[in-house]
Amino acid sequence: FAPKPLAGRKVLITAGPTFEAIDPVRGITNLSSGKMGFAVARAAREAGAEVTLVAGPVHLSTPRGVQRVNVQSAQQMLAAVMALAPASSVFVATAAVADWRPATQAGEKIKKDGSGQTPVLTFVENPDILATVAQLPEAQSGALYCVGFAAESHDLLAHATAKRLRKKIPLLVGNIGPATFGQDDNALLLVDENGHRELPLASKRSLAQGLVAEIAARLPARRA
Ligand code: C5P
Repeated sequence: FAPKPLAGRKVLITAGPTFEAIDPVRGITNLSSGKMGFAVARAAREAGAEVTLVAGPVHLSTPRGVQRVNVQSAQQMLAAVMALAPASSVFVATAAVADWRPATQAGEKIKKDGSGQTPVLTFVENPDILATVAQLPEAQSGALYCVGFAAESHDLLAHATAKRLRKKIPLLVGNIGPATFGQDDNALLLVDENGHRELPLASKRSLAQGLVAEIAARLPARRA
């Protein structure tokens, strides 16, 4: 009888897209379904972890036993994550955070004024949630194990390797295959300091179980 590999660990996960408001009724977002992050949350819970899932707007039900915090914008996601990350042992960033947000949000719905003029949107960069967490002292000391995801259209290994180093995280997971948004199947490329290995095409559920096992095997042993 093997004990559950993540028993006693707190796992924090981001999932889904973010929604960046333009005005009270409009905004920009992306096509992330949140399925991979929700699958990781379920697998981590089944592995015995105490799991918090910080979710952007998605149409998915919360896995059993998982705490869920709903957010809309990248800034809200960052705030929710930073409140929980220092006490966590694992952070898995699967969210497709919007790279930019409108520089200003109109307090009231922007109206057509009949002149034919169109609004001009300007953008500012959003915070990089994963890179921010990776700079926490808990992450630097190894007490908080950070995992990032990458979706690339080409040269996945090279980009994943570079991204792992740029974000200063121990494990970067590449989505193999051009379009994984909304799909139920995927294949993953795991890149760490020792090299890379592939988790071949499978359901997101079974890939998440494989990924959770890989993460558990990389955590520092706990003192009894
Ligand atoms: O830089 P890029 O967006 O490709 O990095 C992807 C990884 O970084 C994912 O793990 C994603 O969840 C995370 N990320 C983040 N905050 C951002 C952008 C990406 O946490 N603003």
